[in-house]
Amino acid sequence: MKRSLFWRTYGVLLAALLITIAIFTGVLAASRRQGLQDSYEAEVRMQAREVAEYMANLQSLSYVQRNTTMRYVLLSKIKEIYRKYNADIWIVSYDSGTVQYLDSSWKTIESIATDAVKEQLSIIQTGQEIRKEGLFPELGDQIVTIGVPWLYDEDYVVGAVLLHIPMKDLHIGIRSVLRQILPMAALSLALGTVLAFFLARSQIRPIKEITGAVREFSKGDLTRRVNVRGAGELEELGDSINRMAEELSRLEDSRRSFVANVSHELRSPLTCMRGYVQAMQDGTIGAEDMPRYLGIVMDETNRLTDLVCDLLDLSRLESGKFPLTLAPFDMNELLRRNLINFEPRIDEKHIEVAAELGDAPLYVMADANRINQVVSNIIDNAIKFMNGPANRLTLRAEAAGKDVRVTILNNGEDIAQKDLPYIFERFYKADKAHTAGQGTGLGLSICQRIMKQHGSLITCRSGGGETAFEFTLPAAEAPSAPGSAGTAPET
Ligand SMILES: Nc1ncnc2c1ncn2[C@@H]1O[C@H](COP(=O)(O)OP(=O)(O)OP(=O)(O)O)[C@@H](O)[C@H]1O
Ligand SMILES: [Mg+2]
Repeated sequence: MKRSLFWRTYGVLLAALLITIAIFTGVLAASRRQGLQDSYEAEVRMQAREVAEYMANLQSLSYVQRNTTMRYVLLSKIKEIYRKYNADIWIVSYDSGTVQYLDSSWKTIESIATDAVKEQLSIIQTGQEIRKEGLFPELGDQIVTIGVPWLYDEDYVVGAVLLHIPMKDLHIGIRSVLRQILPMAALSLALGTVLAFFLARSQIRPIKEITGAVREFSKGDLTRRVNVRGAGELEELGDSINRMAEELSRLEDSRRSFVANVSHELRSPLTCMRGYVQAMQDGTIGAEDMPRYLGIVMDETNRLTDLVCDLLDLSRLESGKFPLTLAPFDMNELLRRNLINFEPRIDEKHIEVAAELGDAPLYVMADANRINQVVSNIIDNAIKFMNGPANRLTLRAEAAGKDVRVTILNNGEDIAQKDLPYIFERFYKADKAHTAGQGTGLGLSICQRIMKQHGSLITCRSGGGETAFEFTLPAAEAPSAPGSAGTAPET
């Protein structure tokens, strides 16, 4: 898999390189060939111009000189052109309106004066140069004729020099051009191949690093971190994987401590019960003490049942399998009912209760059973942890904009500031010395999850001998048919 990814990347890079070099070589060869062809044609045209210049110079010589020198100089030049360029030179004189052709061997040619030829000659007569293919069909249509004016006194056109060259001689073959370019292309390809190899390897390295880390994670080692730098999206992926590993190891820690806490909470009552039952069995506990110890065993059994129920609640809340049944209900009534339920314990501890609840109902939109669980947990805590001589519990419900705010206050020992951020965590018990044996530390974490499910928060402040828990719920209209959904749950 790793190998094939590398080779695939390398293959793609090589293919891209090959295509680029091929296109580049093709374009370069075509433009180079065109350039060479243009400059060769310009060179050929220059030969025709040189012959025209010779003609102009000879014009100034005497007749005899002209005849002898002309023959010698011109003929050798024309022969050289023929040899070098395979091009024939004709000299045309516009002599008193007639056109005279002299070929390279200085022989007068039968006047070839087709309309096309006449037209081109008249263009030259205006001082311009021409280039025409197949102008003289008798020479063959693969012949290019280049014509330049022969001037007298620099601006009077007395004739023309026509240069005939076969098209194939003007043509530069692509092969000769390629022969120049291909070594460079091959060198680029060789260099590119090496570079592509290193590039592919550097692209694969972060993936290898990530794969290695993930493999370690799957073996259970969550301490490994991915170290990918300067690889764009892969670096982002590496960072995400590191964050995931941190989250996983946090979850793993929390799972371990959860299992340890649960085992501990289960073991204590079980050990205690086994001790008492064994003592009753072997007669260490006499028949007269048995009811008392059976009562203790019963209490422990209740504690275990509560613990298991709490754990079940928590697991269902966390897995989201605890759907809310939202309906409007009167918060004041729910709080009053809770007070009634806790009355025996309130009386037992001589707690003074202040119910700051209005006479009018305060409807909220929430799941009454779940909110009842929250309220009873908080009141249970307040009663449990108030151990002063003058205990006071305050329940307050008030409208706050579109919400209803519920506050449950108690006096007594403060929760230490260092403990405050953690009291909503599972199994967290602040001030373990004072709270030992009083609970499992699950109550508030259940409350927080329930409020979270309602899209709300539960907060706690503690200081100056007062601890307050507060939460808000959206206010609701009174239910249309009282008693249908508007009653607080049975507790
Ligand atoms: N009203 C309060 N006054 C002082 N301390 C409190 C109060 N409410 C909560 N605490 C502290 O917060 C801790 C967590 O409370 P929580 O209700 O989650 O657990 P618990 O009451 O110990 O156990 P459980 O509710 O599961 O029986 C308590 O152990 C206690 O130390
Ligand atoms: Mg509690």
